[in-house]
Amino acid sequence: MTRGLLIAFEGIDGTGKSTQLPLLAEFLRSQGHVVVETREPTDGPYGRQIRALYSNRGRVTPRQELELFLQDRRQHVEQCIQPALREGKIVLTDRYYFSTAAYQGAAGLDPAEILNLHGFAPEPDLVLLLTQTPEDSVARIRNQRGEMPNDFEQQDQLEKVAALFASFAQGCIVRIHAARPIGEVQASIRAVVLSLLANKGVQCPD
Ligand code: TYD
Repeated sequence: MTRGLLIAFEGIDGTGKSTQLPLLAEFLRSQGHVVVETREPTDGPYGRQIRALYSNRGRVTPRQELELFLQDRRQHVEQCIQPALREGKIVLTDRYYFSTAAYQGAAGLDPAEILNLHGFAPEPDLVLLLTQTPEDSVARIRNQRGEMPNDFEQQDQLEKVAALFASFAQGCIVRIHAARPIGEVQASIRAVVLSLLANKGVQCPD
């Protein structure tokens, strides 16, 4: 059975995931690969419910919040990720299950238990964990996006989320220092991805 590659971008808010992911996609396409760009929360029904919580997270319990992220991911895996992997594509996802372990872990749930609930989700071949300080993140959200941090982006929360991301030691995780110019961060990302493709012997489709 052919299987594509699953690469997840992870990190606290404001680390530039949604800038870096399309740049990597463009690069991989220029090399002849077939790439699917996707994200969580998705634009599906559960993702929309999650976005409605941004300005008032207190409306649900941490357990209910976890359940929404899990439902959203189940649908994402079934409808988007698995079919693309079966077709041999490279899937780039902006966030995946390490976000749930870190964010819902920071909200008081057990990160190890959260990871254990993900038997349905294919393991990523690579997790690009973009790192920077929570201070840098909050400054970026305010200055560059011109937005006020939402309920998921408050600095005390981000400190806890960052500490959990820092504690993960799974072999698929590669840390990329994100508080650098966009081109430098992208160059680091490409180097890691090219070595993954070489190690897996991934060839471009004819
Ligand atoms: P984000 O990537 O910022 O999406 P958008 O660009 O649509 O705002 O994700 C939204 C927030 O959801 C972010 O603060 C992290 C949080 N989140 C979780 O708490 N758990 C999860 O499992 C995921 C995927 C995201």
